[in-house]
Amino acid sequence: MDITSFIANMPKAELHLHIEGTLEPDMMMSLAERNNVSLPYSTIDEVRAAYNFASLQDFLDLYYQGMNVLQTAFDFYDLTNAYLTRCFAQNVTHVEIFFDPQGHTSRGLAFETALDGITSALDEAERSLGITSKLIMCFLRHLPEDAAFETLESALPHKDRIFGVGLDSSEKDHPPPKFMRVFKAAREAGFIAVAHAGEEGSAANVADAVDLLEISRIDHGNAVLDDVVLTDRISAAQIPLTMCPLSNLRLCVVDDLANHPVRLALQAGLLATINSDDPAYFGGYISENFHAVQLALNLSFEEICQLGRNAYLGSFMNDEQKAAALALFDAFAADNTP
Ligand code: ADE
Ligand code: ZN
Repeated sequence: MDITSFIANMPKAELHLHIEGTLEPDMMMSLAERNNVSLPYSTIDEVRAAYNFASLQDFLDLYYQGMNVLQTAFDFYDLTNAYLTRCFAQNVTHVEIFFDPQGHTSRGLAFETALDGITSALDEAERSLGITSKLIMCFLRHLPEDAAFETLESALPHKDRIFGVGLDSSEKDHPPPKFMRVFKAAREAGFIAVAHAGEEGSAANVADAVDLLEISRIDHGNAVLDDVVLTDRISAAQIPLTMCPLSNLRLCVVDDLANHPVRLALQAGLLATINSDDPAYFGGYISENFHAVQLALNLSFEEICQLGRNAYLGSFMNDEQKAAALALFDAFAADNTP
């Protein structure tokens, strides 16, 4: 099997995916019509033409605007269901996905509207497609910590359906110390913690997210490689990094995929993984991310296998589930590598 078919067919886990970032232009237009929401675009081509980002903030402005079309639990169900259908087609067997409750409660939706729609699609996908999942709610870091506390309060009755808390939105000007108290409260309530760090921000942000927010996984983490001491520390602790190549390219975090740090991350012993972040905005789901970075860096079968295994190792599956998933992955690799 050639490496392109290998990537397409290998079992995969996705650990960094914002469900609101899977809102494809055609679904945006049809939900706008269904819910009578006006959009500043009249055609799908106009939507796509607007997706030309110079920075994370440029993207976030359109991402929050796009969310306005999501109004009912049924909309969130349709959105999640469409993503999981694509997962099945790409042989993604496990997903750990983010949602941004504050992006919806700030528009007057109940916390449960998004939660109910997303989790009903996740439950159904486990039953009908065999795709397992965890749900992580992110705090929007451009909002005050008090607002994150309110969101945490809303989540407490739903701990059975929300596995962890994350931190996303504008990294510049909103470093980890701002959220120390709410992360501590969330961890004490039993949520695992992750955070976006070192995407547009520095290695110091990653160190603070690890030390002050006590996160179990780093989202992006590109900047880790800028600091040798931190790299050794994160590598020794095997704290996973959820890297997103096409996102980094489209948000100008890297100027060229040939300069993406994922190979350096593997060489440094970091538990790096490949993910799609906001695939509807960045031009590709998980397989396209693998294909693009493999091509740009000429990654070998061995490196692709390592990235594929790392996703299961870095997941929040229990040990038994991890062992079973890794056994399936290894059997696939043994049968299909040269
Ligand atoms: N929200 C959705 N995608 C994001 C990203 N890549 N960085 C920060 N916040 C986000
Ligand atoms: Zn992200």
